[in-house]
Amino acid sequence: MGSHVSKAEREHCTHILSITTGDKKGANVNAKVYVTFKNDEGQSQEITITKNHKHHFKKGDIHNFYVTLDFVSKITDIEIRRDHTGHNNEWFVELATISLNKPYTDIIDAVDGKSVSYFPINRWIKASSTLKVQENDSVLPQFEMHEEQRALELAFTRDVYLLSEKILGAPPQVEKLPDDEQFSQEYQREFVTTFTIDNLASDVVDAFHKPIDSIDDYEKLYHTKALPLPTSMHTYQKLTGCNPCIIELCTKFPEHMDISKSELEVFLEGHDFEEALQAKRLYMIDLRYLADIECLHNKKMPGPTCLLYVRNSQQLVPIAIQLMPEKADDNPVFTPSDPAITWLAAKIWFNMADCSHHQSVAHLGFTHLMMESVVVCTKRKLSLSHPIHRLLAPHFIYLLAINE
Ligand SMILES: [Fe+2]
Repeated sequence: MGSHVSKAEREHCTHILSITTGDKKGANVNAKVYVTFKNDEGQSQEITITKNHKHHFKKGDIHNFYVTLDFVSKITDIEIRRDHTGHNNEWFVELATISLNKPYTDIIDAVDGKSVSYFPINRWIKASSTLKVQENDSVLPQFEMHEEQRALELAFTRDVYLLSEKILGAPPQVEKLPDDEQFSQEYQREFVTTFTIDNLASDVVDAFHKPIDSIDDYEKLYHTKALPLPTSMHTYQKLTGCNPCIIELCTKFPEHMDISKSELEVFLEGHDFEEALQAKRLYMIDLRYLADIECLHNKKMPGPTCLLYVRNSQQLVPIAIQLMPEKADDNPVFTPSDPAITWLAAKIWFNMADCSHHQSVAHLGFTHLMMESVVVCTKRKLSLSHPIHRLLAPHFIYLLAINE
């Protein structure tokens, strides 16, 4: 029974089937669709849910269908297929939900608290093939009722998601971007609207083309005044920022820093260095490795170390910053005893190194490149119906496309 039914028919139907066609290239279909409904009480005949003149499923659209079954209870399994009508060979179904029609809803709600079944299909349905789906479609392989379908689907995915070492030494990537991983049209439209027209001020666009050379440039870009960074704010940014995990407990004196224990003890509120160490009140952020990175235009990146101390007030504060890895005459250790502007500059340089670490290691490395291997391995090894795949899937959206 199609979506265009009379009011009386709607009132007498037992279930409402709602189908969402996914927003993917080629997801549309103009075909007849048939569904079989099942639960413990039995199985329906195969029901044609589309009428001859109304079977065009457009991507992003949700269609509701009113069906009358012999059993008035929650549906736990469906089989769905489409015919060869229309020119598209496939149809991408994102979600099917089946809810009981009123007044049956109230009866079922009173029994088990819910009357809607969710079938997150997220699959292409080929002409003439039947897809069998359990409610929620999240099941471990040992409990799978449709083993053959699962094995075939996984075998097909393995052919599409191939790993390849594109960059020597880097994590393996997908050999060729699968069609399913392309940005959806809706996403592209939203991206263009949000970032290009509405929100991106012209001076932000300018910043992509010309370097930022002065504090004035920053103030113009962020529409704010560059204020001195208070000491407490520096570590607040470290703790609440992008890289809190790089703060490590200091367990011994950092020999590579050109400063003595007595010079540090000035900031330890009456404790000597060893006491502070034993009390686990000294922490360190070690970004020395950054200095080895080759930069464009013969520029040099700082490879700093920052020593932090937990005050009696429980505040974590920086007490010493050395910008380059090795001791040298031109590589002093900066402390809060330096002139305020010097100490501020040291903290700003350290923050820039922290941002470099975030963008190169935490963001590009771990979030994008490393995760690409995880995406491809998951697709190759776990069925879409596997609970772990289901949990990870939202984190995978467009990851391969962005990396590409
Ligand atoms: Fe990103």
